[in-house]
Amino acid sequence: MGALTSFGVATGLFSVMVGWLLTYGPAAQYDHAAAEASYMVDDYSSPPIWPVVMGVGQIQAGLNSVSKSFTPPPTQVMDMAIGFATSQLLFTVAKLKIADVLVERPKTADEIAREIGTDQERTRRVLNACIAKGIFDIAPNEPTRSFYVNSKLSAVLRTDHPHSMREMILHQMGDAYDSWSFLHEAIKSKDEVVFATRSRIAEEQNAKGLDTDLSSFYGANPEREAIFQGAMTAMDSMAAQATVNDCEPIQQAKRVVDMGCAQGDFLLRMLSTYPELTGVGFDLPRVISTVEGNLSKLLPEASQKVAAERASFQQGSFFNVDELPAFEEDDVITMRYVFHEWSEADVVKILSNLRKAVGDKQVTLLVGESAIGDDPSAEVMPIRPIMDVNMMVFSNGSDRSPSQWKGIFKQAGWKLTKGYATRSSLGWTEATPV
Ligand SMILES: C[S@@+](CC[C@H](N)C(=O)[O-])C[C@H]1O[C@@H](n2cnc3c(N)ncnc32)[C@H](O)[C@@H]1O
Repeated sequence: MGALTSFGVATGLFSVMVGWLLTYGPAAQYDHAAAEASYMVDDYSSPPIWPVVMGVGQIQAGLNSVSKSFTPPPTQVMDMAIGFATSQLLFTVAKLKIADVLVERPKTADEIAREIGTDQERTRRVLNACIAKGIFDIAPNEPTRSFYVNSKLSAVLRTDHPHSMREMILHQMGDAYDSWSFLHEAIKSKDEVVFATRSRIAEEQNAKGLDTDLSSFYGANPEREAIFQGAMTAMDSMAAQATVNDCEPIQQAKRVVDMGCAQGDFLLRMLSTYPELTGVGFDLPRVISTVEGNLSKLLPEASQKVAAERASFQQGSFFNVDELPAFEEDDVITMRYVFHEWSEADVVKILSNLRKAVGDKQVTLLVGESAIGDDPSAEVMPIRPIMDVNMMVFSNGSDRSPSQWKGIFKQAGWKLTKGYATRSSLGWTEATPV
């Protein structure tokens, strides 16, 4: 037996022992209210320190390779092939708000089914499939083993969780999932925009005689756009504080202009972190018109004060140079997860407009996207290249590596000056006007 295999066996035995102790050992004095409360307090937006991030990444990669070496390739491929089932389980839980039902006390499948209006036996089977994925658990101190409770994972599907991922799931499954079934078509040509030509959404828009591009779809469906904006807010649950802390120009900025600010979560996170900083959030009129109402709903009191004192919001489209904010000397312009929605031609258009609006002011532009590199074999976060393909099918967009950004900036009058890795899946690419 090789050293790696022995390590894997030892790790496996250790995990089984810990799992047994947690379930049946002294730690199993399960207190429902305390468990639910404990799931609500973790701040998932704050990343661990750098050495932990690097160390955990290495350990994870090592454990994954050990686990794979024990799993025959056909079994691994089957697990991957059925991956859509996990997405659908999450969607069902999110749509029917099952995690909310379990906040009060542990419940049987029959009780849950009665509350959400579903079939009892089918509900039990769905819940058990969820448990296999770590979504929900069985209450450890109920002798019949038939009472379901939330787990750490299902807790973030609660509607009231401070890091709720519910709207992210509703958005991905409601708006993007269908387009993935046309990936085999999307791959054929860079002009193939499956979202706008083949998806169910395109069919719905066509039936109403409306344009089928993403912007027109959201413009015509405010309730779907609200879910999309909620999904953008959910992005902040994934180590967003790292996107603020790990970027020198943001640390040193006097004023930030956040282009495509959505509900303002990222802007307010920057302002809350740096007390001298002021900021402007910029987005489409129909988005900015919803920001004020949402700020009071979403933000803790302290952030609302920050919003009132140091943030302002401006509406317009970055495709129209006359609608852009008046930039000031030394502004730091942030654009986080904005460009990956757009084709290269559109990105060049937006950047050229920004360049015109900036004129002879010295500003720093920061583009924040999934930090995909030029060597795919060096990738440590599979979510990055997968989100890149998500953008391909969803909006004909793309995540881009530094070498791609270099060429794009050049076409639009900017120069790539630096890159900043963060303790999240996002990397910042910095550019200055030429
Ligand atoms: C993927 S979201 C990113 C949100 C936010 N920057 C973040 O990091 O959470 C893209 C944002 O760009 C905005 N957007 C799309 N087209 C726009 C346009 N023409 N002008 C200004 N903003 C636009 C959308 O409304 C949306 O809020």
